[in-house]
Amino acid sequence: MTDTMTPVPEPAVAIQGLSVTFGGKVRAVDRVDLTLGRGQAIALIGESGSGKSVTLRAIMRLNPERKTAIEGRIVVAGRDVMAMGKRELTTLRGREVAMIFQEPLLALDPVYTVGRQITEAIRQHEKIGATEARARALEQFERVRIPSPERRLDAYPHEMSGGMRQRAMIALALACNPKVLLADEPTTALDATVQIQILLLLRDLQAELGLSTIFVTHDLGAAVEVADRIAVMYAGRIVEEGSARQVVLNPHHPYTIGLLRSRADGALAKGSRLQTIPGSPPDLANRPPGCPFAPRCFLAEDRCRVGDPPVVEAGPGHRAACWKSDEAAGGFREQRSELEVT
Ligand SMILES: Nc1ncnc2c1ncn2[C@@H]1O[C@H](COP(=O)(O)OP(=O)(O)OP(=O)(O)O)[C@@H](O)[C@H]1O
Ligand SMILES: [Mg+2]
Repeated sequence: MTDTMTPVPEPAVAIQGLSVTFGGKVRAVDRVDLTLGRGQAIALIGESGSGKSVTLRAIMRLNPERKTAIEGRIVVAGRDVMAMGKRELTTLRGREVAMIFQEPLLALDPVYTVGRQITEAIRQHEKIGATEARARALEQFERVRIPSPERRLDAYPHEMSGGMRQRAMIALALACNPKVLLADEPTTALDATVQIQILLLLRDLQAELGLSTIFVTHDLGAAVEVADRIAVMYAGRIVEEGSARQVVLNPHHPYTIGLLRSRADGALAKGSRLQTIPGSPPDLANRPPGCPFAPRCFLAEDRCRVGDPPVVEAGPGHRAACWKSDEAAGGFREQRSELEVT
């Protein structure tokens, strides 16, 4: 028999042991491992300050380099991002990985028309003429379903509604056909109905273009809607990760359970935002020893306050970093079945 090796496709993004420390003290991201498969969508959820944006920015090397210590490995399509020089970074940003933000006004330049910004972005990466670039920009506007696209290309950002601006920003982000899209709470600033439209648009674009996406959100309903997998972050660590269904229906980390329980209706209605859990996250400059969630955890015991909790396999592709994950999961299941009975 010959030795035939089936090539395993490179993941779109592979993050290993990523830590980001600001000013030598504030450890905003702490030993994060995350793999984004090709064509996959991962939702990153967690409270404010848990390190979601810093993680996304690290993928594009967008955290300020001065006074920032970055450890670990980030590989995009097989290439080491930490080792990239200036030219490679320019290609990485926009052509391979694009990012969209909560507030399009920060990404769009107020003094140029949206059409011009898109054509310039394309011409920065490709040697094509103005007419061709304009045609491409028009295609982008059609792709994000902007009505009267020809006319809207000549609009300035402030002349557009919030939802339209968000579409224009998505068009700008996708102008150079990136393979990876990082979406940092792209819908939170919008009205509920517009949020849903943008979510559906993102989901369609992802399928149509085969994009690999990391989607940051506070909204579990949105996470389930758009993502194959969910990673839950707490104080810079990923405390639970699994398929969207595993995490939402069979959570194993007390923090995930806290997030699910704090939802007013308990259901996964779109637009229902996460409520806060009693207590507050630790000071990232003075991390408590042991599990960062222990001070707020309803199940914490002495060993939780000493070293790192073990990473427990809760199912195929489903892991939780917790000593008490079985007990936590069992309690959640019980509570759910009671709810179903009453
Ligand atoms: N350039 C920086 N210098 C110092 N601290 C920073 C810097 N960028 C982020 N931080 C800190 O890192 C922590 C994580 O920030 P991050 O923006 O990733 O949170 P987040 O999970 O995205 O929160 P939110 O949901 O509010 O957007 C915060 O405490 C933040 O203040
Ligand atoms: Mg953020």
